[in-house]
Amino acid sequence: MKSMRNKDFITTQEWDKDQLEALLDLAVSLKAERRAGTLHPLLLFKTLYMLFFFSSTRTRNSFETGMTQLGGHAVFLTPDKMQLSHGESIKDTVRVLSSYGDAVAVRQCDYSVGNKVLREMSQYSSAPIINMQCDVYHPCQALADLMTIRENFEPGRRLKLGVAWTSAPNYVRPLSVPQSLILLMPRFGIDVTLAYPAEFRLQPEIEEQAARNAAAAGTDFYISHRFEEAFENADVVIPKSWGPLFFTQDEKKSLSLIDRYPSWVCDEKRMALTKDDSLYMHPLPADRGREVTDAVIDGPHSVIYQQAENRLHVQKALLAHIMGGVE
Ligand code: CP
Repeated sequence: MKSMRNKDFITTQEWDKDQLEALLDLAVSLKAERRAGTLHPLLLFKTLYMLFFFSSTRTRNSFETGMTQLGGHAVFLTPDKMQLSHGESIKDTVRVLSSYGDAVAVRQCDYSVGNKVLREMSQYSSAPIINMQCDVYHPCQALADLMTIRENFEPGRRLKLGVAWTSAPNYVRPLSVPQSLILLMPRFGIDVTLAYPAEFRLQPEIEEQAARNAAAAGTDFYISHRFEEAFENADVVIPKSWGPLFFTQDEKKSLSLIDRYPSWVCDEKRMALTKDDSLYMHPLPADRGREVTDAVIDGPHSVIYQQAENRLHVQKALLAHIMGGVE
């Protein structure tokens, strides 16, 4: 296996399967150690810079807490409190930060901008860059989702995951969560059905890459425009909203399109189409009452809090590997 030290984590697509398996193995160990009260100061005196162009609850706090638990320190940064707000370049910003610390993590979700910012940072940084969500990918979320699925099913069981669009016309969410799911899960033996109304298609190159990943792994990747198809006989469903961003970037038009499909909501009727022991997952924040009913999100299939907790464990494993805490 190739070393992961100093390796950027911008998309799982750039990581070999055995490297991702090593992250998941370490995440399982770190979770067990935390449960047992065993300290694991793998990153003593190391610093992570976390630059948030967008708001966050889980990502910020799981990275910051993770660095503390690993014996290091995380610095929370927002552009409005930095010289970026006066026009300082990404290049100068990241050159300086990476000369002080040991990794730089970034959340920038603006469509057609976010991933380019991360790539520019990668070009000029002397430390690894971590994607805390961009317009294209949310790799930490997908990895935590895979860990959660594995915790709930016997190894070797062939699983169907339904990733379904839901209607939540309060704001336009990025494509990064469904895109990272359809890229990652087929590589790990999971069949994926992706369902959305036609205007909500994902970026074509990502859908095409997901199909290639599935073909290489011998799994199925299927796209439907019927909501129920993601649920029928599914072992896991991840229904969530995203914007029609490939179709239009006009916010008013986007919200009106999202509002056009109010029946795309995850309710008990839809969950009844899934297997008896199926999982309901959501990366959160969830829009209760619009994306999903309380009966489902608080119901017996839901593992949302386990899923959110696993962000901490997979990210600690990632930090330990890329910042030199383990070889
Ligand atoms: N799932 C997720 O990334 O949550 P936050 O937006 O709260 O970080």
